[in-house]
Amino acid sequence: MKTVLITGVAGFIGSNLANELLNRHYKVIGIDNFSQGFKRNIENLLGHSAFEFYEGDVRDQDLILKASKDAGSIIHLAAYKIPRYGNSMATLQINTKGTENILEAAKVNKCKVVFASTSDVYGKNPKLPFSEESDLLLGQTSIKRWAYAISKIYDEHLCFAYQEEHGVPSVILRYFGGYGPNQNLTWWGGPQSVFIDCALRKKPMPIHGDGKQTRSFTYIPDLVEGTIAATENENAVGQVFNIGNQREIAIIELAKMIWKMINPNDEPLFEFISYQSFSGRYEDVPRRIPDINKTKKLLNFHPKIELEEGMPITIEWQKRFTE
Ligand SMILES: NC(=O)c1ccc[n+]([C@@H]2O[C@H](COP(=O)([O-])OP(=O)(O)OC[C@H]3O[C@@H](n4cnc5c(N)ncnc54)[C@H](O)[C@@H]3O)[C@@H](O)[C@H]2O)c1
Repeated sequence: MKTVLITGVAGFIGSNLANELLNRHYKVIGIDNFSQGFKRNIENLLGHSAFEFYEGDVRDQDLILKASKDAGSIIHLAAYKIPRYGNSMATLQINTKGTENILEAAKVNKCKVVFASTSDVYGKNPKLPFSEESDLLLGQTSIKRWAYAISKIYDEHLCFAYQEEHGVPSVILRYFGGYGPNQNLTWWGGPQSVFIDCALRKKPMPIHGDGKQTRSFTYIPDLVEGTIAATENENAVGQVFNIGNQREIAIIELAKMIWKMINPNDEPLFEFISYQSFSGRYEDVPRRIPDINKTKKLLNFHPKIELEEGMPITIEWQKRFTE
């Protein structure tokens, strides 16, 4: 039986990934400190004979060494995201120290590392779609939102350095906008979580800026499929892969689509929020679409589920959290 350690297992991607790996007869060891994840996401896994769970912090080196002792691979998901409404300290510290610990443990216990990076590393690069060879173009250090991309870029470099210096095999996955059951219900989970919540309550949906900024959205089983392919495929080692759906949609169009799925007979309500009202300066990414040719070719990754199919399932799941 193959054994995988997942950090951040109580989060959105981690819990869905753990479920699928258990279905495929893996042994799954999970770590989470529940800072952004939820017990409810792993409740169904806790009684599973092939699931072992450690509640703790990825910055705890002894814990990581112990939990990874029998693992063939570590899928490192535990991280903090863009500090949109908070401070950047946790993002910088957790994302760098956590990854240092994972790579050190992988060196000692001879594990492969699958590292969760982000499309945010491409930053403001105007050349679309983003390919893995594209330049990473970030803004000033006084704008704290870039702390997230910077921490992930440092981590990607560290993966390559550990591979070079210590022979630790690693794969880097740059995820693009995941959504689906077990997503975080706030901005932490992405704009779709907030739009669904507002539309269910018939409250105005908050739109940052004019809403013309575009993103691409990937349904969770597609993200999970790409992650498992990267974990299993030996040719993936030493490579960076975009994992995402290529369809581009403006944020305001996404909001309208969600509203109409929930309230087909009502006109959508919006509340426009200027970037100036964010604490500290904020800078948004105008457009974001992945080039997935490399991922298709090397990992046989073909995202199958479109927004029209995945979003209604996500809405049904999220309804249980609306009083
Ligand atoms: N979901 C996406 O669309 C997306 C897009 C790009 C990148 N990513 C990356 O994928 C990974 C997983 O994302 P997600 O959406 O599942 O996020 P999430 O916040 O739902 O899950 C992350 C989990 O890590 C845990 N965690 C955070 N800090 C920890 C710590 N110090 N010790 C132990 N556990 C800790 C949280 O409690 C949470 O359960 C992250 O690294 C994220 O940067 C996700």
